[in-house]
Amino acid sequence: MDRYAARRDKLRRLIKKAKADALLITNFTNVTYLTGFTGDDSYLLVGGDEAVLLSDPRYTTQLKEECPGLATEIRPPGTSMMASIKKVAQRAKAAVLGIEATSMTVAVASAIGKELAGIELAPCNGLVEQLREIKDRHEIASLKGAVVQAERAFGVIRSSLRGEQTELAVAHEIEAQVRLFGGRGCSFPPIVAVGPRAALPHARPTNQTIDAAGFVLIDWGADGADGYKSDLTRVLVTGKISPKLEAIYRVVLRAQERAIAAIRPGVTGRKVDAVARKIIDDAGFGKYFGHGLGHGLGLDIHEGPRLAKNNDRPLKAGMVVTVEPGIYLPGFGGVRIEDDVLVTRGGHEVLTGVAKQWEESQLPW
Ligand code: GLY
Ligand code: MN
Ligand code: MN
Repeated sequence: MDRYAARRDKLRRLIKKAKADALLITNFTNVTYLTGFTGDDSYLLVGGDEAVLLSDPRYTTQLKEECPGLATEIRPPGTSMMASIKKVAQRAKAAVLGIEATSMTVAVASAIGKELAGIELAPCNGLVEQLREIKDRHEIASLKGAVVQAERAFGVIRSSLRGEQTELAVAHEIEAQVRLFGGRGCSFPPIVAVGPRAALPHARPTNQTIDAAGFVLIDWGADGADGYKSDLTRVLVTGKISPKLEAIYRVVLRAQERAIAAIRPGVTGRKVDAVARKIIDDAGFGKYFGHGLGHGLGLDIHEGPRLAKNNDRPLKAGMVVTVEPGIYLPGFGGVRIEDDVLVTRGGHEVLTGVAKQWEESQLPW
């Protein structure tokens, strides 16, 4: 059985538990996870014994290449996806059809409801997402590949950074380098934030130049060749800075290192978040750390599990999370340090290895 068929088998158990006969997967990322198909505009129906990918003729050849052996329902031009859904749901004899409530639009849900009169629709939440939280060895290898691409790109950026470059130019260069090292592109638009702009956790790059202040925050990642993502943040010191920057940098780094050290199976997301938060609180910066400590990482840049106050579920081996505490001081700037961490049976493995000690963040300008 190939890895995708094995995933669909695991899903079948969850579908049964949800008291549905089949699940219509409409989230394209979930379709990719369950089939290996990288196109879009296609749905997947997983029933008791069957799995059928619903697509259109643009993808006939690609489907043969990417999912050999998978049953397909290719609708001819001029016919609707709804008619295809009806056909495969009836063929699967699904009396209760699960739908992905968290990603389906109201318009699609109501169209399916009309088309499938007589079939009961059962809203399901996060069945595939639950499986995606635990990465298999293929996924871990892909994630590591995306880390290598991101880190190589950063190596080039770091060694070629110049004061007259704008935030936008650096962001553009990161994107180009990630592609040169084999990535599809960045896993999200890179954040390049000079000085006070770094107080915005999700700052958009501007035409401000790197030498407009003495430090720059860079948050970037690669969308690896097969869709797995990496996500890192570093702060580089490029000029004269206030001692306050070093003070908050050291607090954030300590919070991050301690939180990483706490990661192992059985510890909740809440607990890991609390380890970092306490260090930042105790240093007097608690109100300037306004986001969760981290998030799962995989085919999506943000997925489960969260390292946050509201996650009481224990971590499990195979989960991959970011650990990214930050302190953001409006008007002054901010520091965030972000690494990607795999939960292993014995504890954890940090997948990212870009230097992050205070002394290593100084550029020799
Ligand atoms: N790059 C967005 C984040 O770190 O979550
Ligand atoms: Mn990030
Ligand atoms: Mn992140």
